[in-house]
Amino acid sequence: MILKDDLRSFPFPFGDSQAYKYSNNAVPLRPPNPIEVTDKYLDEIRLKRELLTNHPERCYQSSPHTMDAQWEVVDLILHHLVYFYPELFELEKNDEQWIFSNVLTNERVAFIFGDRTTLEEEPLDFIGRHVQEDLLLMMQRDGDLFLDAGQLCFPANWSLYFNVGMTFKEIHSPIPGFQSELLDDRILQFLMRIEADTPWGRKNWSLMAGNKLDTSLETFAEWGQARKQVTKENAGWLVHLRVEMQKLFRLPKSNGILFTIHSHMLPLERFIQHPPWLEQFYAILHGLPDFISDYKGISHYRQHVLEYLVEEMKKR
Ligand code: HEM
Repeated sequence: MILKDDLRSFPFPFGDSQAYKYSNNAVPLRPPNPIEVTDKYLDEIRLKRELLTNHPERCYQSSPHTMDAQWEVVDLILHHLVYFYPELFELEKNDEQWIFSNVLTNERVAFIFGDRTTLEEEPLDFIGRHVQEDLLLMMQRDGDLFLDAGQLCFPANWSLYFNVGMTFKEIHSPIPGFQSELLDDRILQFLMRIEADTPWGRKNWSLMAGNKLDTSLETFAEWGQARKQVTKENAGWLVHLRVEMQKLFRLPKSNGILFTIHSHMLPLERFIQHPPWLEQFYAILHGLPDFISDYKGISHYRQHVLEYLVEEMKKR
């Protein structure tokens, strides 16, 4: 069933806590599905493909040694798509001859599984064009995890082009407190022990001024300006809560890890329609440590958002 991407299905990221701090908040994934199809599917797929055409280096990177793992990702995602969305996707297999049909885009792709020359793009790039998720591939070797391939169209202010080839700890080094509290090491150890039949999921959140999904580091000058325009009066429609549903799947043959990110956004005025969320979110934003607020880029307008939330609480 296609999920309606709105208030009722919004992946609320705070559980029952009244305060937020960085932690390993990954939990076993239920249902164990790397992909979700929402009612924004066609719009987001169109945008993804446009970005991939216009900014190929920004949106896709891979090392040649990831090819086997990329095919494993195709295998895993196609089988999950047809299992969870049998009315939307079909897969016919005759040994290595595969035919994938996507009802939503009205496409039919025939290829030989494992033969790169039978696809127009690399396998990870191909499958990423059929799902709303960004797809990152971490390869495990020498007791470490390396970001060796990815298709990233909807980054929350980071750059695949810059980060490709980095280790897990190097990627997370800009996050304040991550190293000093040894969170980077604990999470890395956790990731390296993930097993093939036990996928994990976590939610990450931030606030965005504006509703762009494509907030890459490279285009910060275009979208970052909106932060300065936030006021108490416009915060309700201009500021969005952005939640990334992140999922981790071990690829048993290559021993890589597939990391999928589905980005959901709701304007604050819609998010606070659910009364318990309004008060809880106020408490969390009010108590958010400055270093986290700075890192998430909220500090410029946090006060305006808090004032907006107070006004809304008075109305209830
Ligand atoms: C294994 C695949 C993962 C990749 C490729 C990845 C990548 C990233 C990137 C690129 C950033 C932004 C860093 C920057 O500012 O330049 C980030 C932020 C972050 N990551 Fe990861 N990450 C992964 C897994 C995890 C896991 C499993 C956790 C925790 C359990 C985690 C926790 C965080 C946190 C807390 C932040 C800061 C986010 C914020 O405050 O908005 N990451 N990650």
